[in-house]
Amino acid sequence: MTRSTRPDPRALFLSRRAVLRAGLGAGLLAACGGRRGPADALAPTAAIPDDGDDDDDDAALDDATPLACTAPTADNIEGPFFKPGAPSRSVLVAADTPGERLAVGGLVTSTDCRPLGDVRLEIWHADHRGAYDNDGFTFRGALRSDADGRWDVRTILPGRYLNGRRYRPAHLHLKLRAAGHRPLTTQLYFDGDPYNDGDPFLVPSLIMPVERTRRGARARFDFVLEPA
Ligand SMILES: [Fe+2]
Repeated sequence: MTRSTRPDPRALFLSRRAVLRAGLGAGLLAACGGRRGPADALAPTAAIPDDGDDDDDDAALDDATPLACTAPTADNIEGPFFKPGAPSRSVLVAADTPGERLAVGGLVTSTDCRPLGDVRLEIWHADHRGAYDNDGFTFRGALRSDADGRWDVRTILPGRYLNGRRYRPAHLHLKLRAAGHRPLTTQLYFDGDPYNDGDPFLVPSLIMPVERTRRGARARFDFVLEPA
């Protein structure tokens, strides 16, 4: 098997057609690799078009109107890699961190659409090769929503990893805790990931649209918490 005949399971946003054209699926990939994706470099993603606007492309949230705020956000499995004690921070990358930059954020509201400030969010995810740091706190952080309910994290697009014989789609893990509300443990997924289809854990309402800017990827998700 050569690299040119198989899709890179860690490269996001390959079109389904591209995957089918490559002629090989996740099952065969799983048979070729270990728990993580192959150790070769991340396949280049499509060129990021210049959107022509000079606004702050780094901001994941440029409109504070809730996208939706009546149905509580779906929960999703915690998975085996949660680690308590993550440092307080919302920037999980340094200048030399490998991987495509991701600005992700949005609002936290209650089911009455009221913005919730001081919500504690914990986020953890795999690196660009699909590995979790279980010894340290790389790509792990804890932050709080601001007074307007905004949350914002700067990180990278996570890689995929094997779950049994198939790759899980790229995803972020989060835990949210807010006074007077039920705690939420969930995951966020990226629209356009060809491994979304058929993932046994994915909930469609947790898929974020992804915008590509000159600085990387940008995604928004508004959490809705249920009163306790
Ligand atoms: Fe995971």
